Amino acid sequence: MDMGERQPAALSDLPILREIQMVSVERASKIYGEAPGFAALDGVDLAVYKGDFLAIVGPSGSGKSTLLNVIGCIEKLSSGTLRIEGFAVNSLSPDALAELRSAKLGFIYQTFNLIPVLTALENVELPLYRRNVPARERRQRAIQLLRDVGLERFASHTPRMLSGGQRQRVAIARALINRPSLILADEPTANLDRKTGLEIIQLLGNLNRRTGVTIIFSTHDPHIMRQATRVIEIQDGRMPAPGR
Ligand SMILES: Nc1ncnc2c1ncn2[C@@H]1O[C@H](COP(=O)(O)OP(=O)(O)OP(=O)(O)O)[C@@H](O)[C@H]1O
Ligand SMILES: [Mg+2]
Repeated sequence: MDMGERQPAALSDLPILREIQMVSVERASKIYGEAPGFAALDGVDLAVYKGDFLAIVGPSGSGKSTLLNVIGCIEKLSSGTLRIEGFAVNSLSPDALAELRSAKLGFIYQTFNLIPVLTALENVELPLYRRNVPARERRQRAIQLLRDVGLERFASHTPRMLSGGQRQRVAIARALINRPSLILADEPTANLDRKTGLEIIQLLGNLNRRTGVTIIFSTHDPHIMRQATRVIEIQDGRMPAPGR
């Protein structure tokens, strides 16, 4: 283990980690519809560093989901560049893109997106099926993660038998199972009451501090954005202040 070494207050406080770019977005535009179309992202520049716990905030329709979907390689940019850990995503083949997503990224959604007929444990294990991880290891890793989010006792429950906050904890465990270096969470607290939402964002904050995993989330809620170590605003697909 750590042999009694003094832990920094937060891994993200380590100056060396602050230098490493996890995500870089340059002059990014996303145009929907027929020409001239509608610019959901309109020349966005953003650098996200390893260990960031970053909130993207802005009114409804400002482009938060579009930006997270672009960074998550779910949507392609119309122009501009996206780099993840230095890889220019635009130039990757579909297979390489799928591999990058499954190996490096974890996703958390506003509506939890759990599979209703699977138990909490099976939902958490699911991403490992696609990666041919042996059954025993799958199970062990999933149980450990359910323990980490305080849900070990609920392993055999289906989502219907869980509260909203518990469902989101299962979704967080599922997002972590591939040991991602970047977690993307689009309004992860929007369907939760204020207290539960705060607990969920604090769980993510603890995870960020403890493991150094980079987390980008979006929110409208000032109480939630205050938990982030960095807040970036988006408005009409633009970032008024440069994203560093
Ligand atoms: N597939 C699409 N086709 C056309 N327009 C789209 C599409 N997806 C998003 N848009 C438009 O792009 C803009 C940004 O949408 P986006 O979903 O990114 O906003 P948001 O900030 O996430 O909003 P909310 O807070 O309501 O979730 C909106 O005006 C939306 O209507
Ligand atoms: Mg959205």
